[in-house]
Amino acid sequence: MMRVLPRRQSPGSAANGEPSPGAPAASSPRDLRTITRTLQSGGSVADREFDEVFPSEIRRVSKAHWTPVEVARRAAELLTDGHGADSTILDIGAGAGKFCIVAAATALARVRGIEHRESLVDVARTAASRLGVDVDFVRGTLEDEDPSVIDGLYLFNPFAENLCSPRDRVDDTVELNLDRFWRDVAATERFLRAARPGTRVVTYCGFGGSMPGDYVLTLRERWSSVLELWVKGHERADAPLLRRQA
Ligand SMILES: C[S@@+](CC[C@H](N)C(=O)[O-])C[C@H]1O[C@@H](n2cnc3c(N)ncnc32)[C@H](O)[C@@H]1O
Repeated sequence: MMRVLPRRQSPGSAANGEPSPGAPAASSPRDLRTITRTLQSGGSVADREFDEVFPSEIRRVSKAHWTPVEVARRAAELLTDGHGADSTILDIGAGAGKFCIVAAATALARVRGIEHRESLVDVARTAASRLGVDVDFVRGTLEDEDPSVIDGLYLFNPFAENLCSPRDRVDDTVELNLDRFWRDVAATERFLRAARPGTRVVTYCGFGGSMPGDYVLTLRERWSSVLELWVKGHERADAPLLRRQA
């Protein structure tokens, strides 16, 4: 059974998304490591604070293109629930690495992010290194990945940029058009069909396509956009999650 839940406010986070009183200003490497320790211990980090790890041009597009910290934490929790520390999470379209970095800091899993823009792969690697978290960032596309080794897949509407006006795009260094959108959506649907039973998929704002019929919509939460957990096959992995929310 699937339930629709209201947006959750994490303990200690200010309602307006501003840093909590006494939160660190992330201007030095030491301050950045404080952000990592806060995430690891379950504390709240405001997006504005986290985004200081990025160059200004990456910060500027954060709200539109990168997952908010608390959404990333929740998505990572949903993807790893019931799996051991040796599970692997893949972010398709890792961007500047925000989801992957938060996931690596807060969840027990190997985290891999694939991204087709080389400049963003560099930004993501630098950010992970400054924050002291271990993420495998790779330049590439879904076609390069093996679905049989993935336990959890994260999709923050990665192909929507193909549909945006040029002014709303990250940049013009990659092919972006309607034909590319449908090719990438079809590749994702093929990847999902080839994944192992039990594979968990979290979408934030969807991914533009349809989940194959053997995936069960297990949870839906409203944050700034809709976060959904889908589980492939008929395993009972959804049961502990539903109990936790009750
Ligand atoms: C909405 S952003 C999400 C970034 C990251 N997942 C996050 O949540 O912070 C989507 C990213 O997917 C990348 N992307 C889009 N299509 C892609 C493709 N076919 N292969 C790899 N990366 C892609 C874009 O360059 C962009 O960085």
